[in-house]
Amino acid sequence: MNSPASRRVLTGITTSGTPHLGNYVGSIRASVRASRQPGVQSFYFLADYHALIKCQEPARVQRSTLEIAASWLAAGLDPEQVTFYRQSDIPEIPELTWLLTCVTGKGLLNRAHAYKAMLDKNQAAGQDADADVTAGLFMYPVLMGADILMFSAHQVPVGRDQIQHIEMARDMAASFNHLYGAGQELLTPPAALIDDNVALLPGLDGRKMSKSYDNTIALFGPREQMRKQIMSIVTDSRAPGEPKDTEGSALYAIYRAFADDAEAAAFAQAFRGGIGWADAKQQLFERIEREIGPMRARYEHLMAHPEEVEAVLQAGARKARALATPFMHTLRHAVGLRALTAQGASAAGKTSARATLPAFKQYREADGRFYFKLTDASGTVLLQSRGFDAPREAGQAVKRLQAEGARALAALTAHLQPQPDPGAPALQRALESLRAEEARN
Ligand code: TRP
Repeated sequence: MNSPASRRVLTGITTSGTPHLGNYVGSIRASVRASRQPGVQSFYFLADYHALIKCQEPARVQRSTLEIAASWLAAGLDPEQVTFYRQSDIPEIPELTWLLTCVTGKGLLNRAHAYKAMLDKNQAAGQDADADVTAGLFMYPVLMGADILMFSAHQVPVGRDQIQHIEMARDMAASFNHLYGAGQELLTPPAALIDDNVALLPGLDGRKMSKSYDNTIALFGPREQMRKQIMSIVTDSRAPGEPKDTEGSALYAIYRAFADDAEAAAFAQAFRGGIGWADAKQQLFERIEREIGPMRARYEHLMAHPEEVEAVLQAGARKARALATPFMHTLRHAVGLRALTAQGASAAGKTSARATLPAFKQYREADGRFYFKLTDASGTVLLQSRGFDAPREAGQAVKRLQAEGARALAALTAHLQPQPDPGAPALQRALESLRAEEARN
């Protein structure tokens, strides 16, 4: 199941700001490249529920969602290749958040860095430890765990500051599996994916480029704004003609993040040769423009046509929910939120979640022909085939049902015996959960 051929990679972007060059170099560019690799199933989403934790300006949350979505699309993310969606379009995520909340120790959350930092700050200021701490901030890691576990992600590309959250998601998966999995891995424990090759971009003042330092260069601002921001990068006071250091130079570091090795070497040579800061900044501007400029038109188009971005996100939500809905069904069943007539309602308590999954069986009859049937957990036959001449033909029909679910039924009617209850919800549900299983594997 965890074969590299089906590696699932997932990451979220909190929708509370406007993308800057640091976000581009540190996350967007690498993610877009990675999403084109074969054998990777990528999930990218706009974490707007997370945005509510730190941003209580509705217009800003909406605007940021549009800006971030437009930036990723303009940077080349192909929504046909990946699953690109908005967190708040997936109601299964808050639903799973609650299931996880109930298996997560409060003590675990007490140890979260972001929460502890707030407590320390309050205490240092002589205030009540929990001043200005919402329950949302405290629950942040659980919501993030639900994001990840909902789609059984194997790898989560994040910054180092997020590693603890991924470890917490692993803990949540382990507790859940222990309590409800009956020996099976219902929830897949994720791993953080840290790319050490990705440059940490310095900002205008030389510190890490970050919204909180107010030292950013907007990714898709107007061309002239980008030029002005680059001209304001802090340098030392060396005059034109004096050799300059590349070491410790924000200007050089930003150039490096866009240049290939030969360009970087030439730029370093120019530094040693005493290039003036104004010239160096102009060269940096031109180098960045070469990469970003062609994307800007697309960004501006999307910003002017939010309905196009909305349509992309709606299509992404449908794709995401095709996985989330049946998986949530399995999880609800596993914890006991299930029809009173469902298997497992015995006073004896625990039953295996897997034992309640429907299954295909293939066999040979006395007539020498090959058959398959689909049964639910209690052995009730939901679907019965007619005889096939070769086992391979029966196998292909089963494969097709697994891959396409109920949609394949119409094409296969000639091979199926009449159903006692065609289109029965039990059959639909069984096929949908098997199809989802297949898609996950
Ligand atoms: N917490 C992440 C950040 O601030 C954003 C995020 C939300 C996320 N849910 C996620 C990242 C799930 C990875 C996986 O950067």
